[in-house]
Amino acid sequence: MDFTGKDIISIKDFSKTEIDHILKCAEKMIPFAKGEKTLTLLEGKILSSLFFEPSTRTRLSFESAMNRLSGRVIGFADPTATSQKKGETLADTIRMADAYSDIIVMRHPSEGAARLAADFADSPILNAGDGAGHHPTQCLLDLFTIFHEKKHIGKQNVVLLGDLKYGRTVHSLAYALSLYGSDLTFVSPKSLKMPREVINECKNLGATPTSTTKIEKALKNADVLYVTRIQKERFPDLEEYNRVVGTYQITMDLLKAVKKDLIIMHPLPRVTEIDPAVDQTNHAVYFKQAFNGVPIRMALLSLVSGVKL
Ligand code: CP
Repeated sequence: MDFTGKDIISIKDFSKTEIDHILKCAEKMIPFAKGEKTLTLLEGKILSSLFFEPSTRTRLSFESAMNRLSGRVIGFADPTATSQKKGETLADTIRMADAYSDIIVMRHPSEGAARLAADFADSPILNAGDGAGHHPTQCLLDLFTIFHEKKHIGKQNVVLLGDLKYGRTVHSLAYALSLYGSDLTFVSPKSLKMPREVINECKNLGATPTSTTKIEKALKNADVLYVTRIQKERFPDLEEYNRVVGTYQITMDLLKAVKKDLIIMHPLPRVTEIDPAVDQTNHAVYFKQAFNGVPIRMALLSLVSGVKL
């Protein structure tokens, strides 16, 4: 399987076999991601890290991954400190990063920006989130977390909770889990339902997702609970946000009636949707999930650079 030079824009660009291969490569990266062993696979290579939107995990884990592979990182986390401020186009900024580096990772507020960037760069573009569009490396690390914690991905009851309208991670994950034959339940306020086109894509892959506003019943048989933040920054109307924020909170009380081996995931950042008391339970895997961004991104950076793992 050859990923040399491949742009990573959407999880839909990958077959299930390719995803399985990436997860296996990421598994091999764990001791190196933890710094227990060292690697020089990308010595001499440069990653451009272009973040036009705020990020903690995606940016730092990409940069950690590149450093763990002995590569170097250039870039910015504040676009107002770049020539975009003087009116430079995204296409020209990408042309520059392409000239100065070997791989480009980019987060941008506009849906479709990563696909556009790929048209202007010879180097592989790794989409670190494009507006309400795609966040494929997050989806891969989410799948990796389920694989790692549950020892397989497949016929499990997976509940996706929260902002299913604007949350890009849940769109990708719903699609990917449908490839694996998981049973999906979508729980959200009525105004933040999973978009019809995502539900249809899941159905086209043979899944039969159900939608509800009721968390208690959905949680009863859940193997995986994936919680999301209400994405305030994507609401055109702040009043609408104020109406739905705080609808759901995962509390110790709610967890009394769940399976013992339920895992709770969250792409983070969280605000109020998971009570911090839950962090101490065996259900909480969201911080391990955030760490998993490093081995997944190490695998992807290596694979697009032509390294055979
Ligand atoms: N999960 C995620 O994308 O987090 P950041 O926004 O902090 O990168």
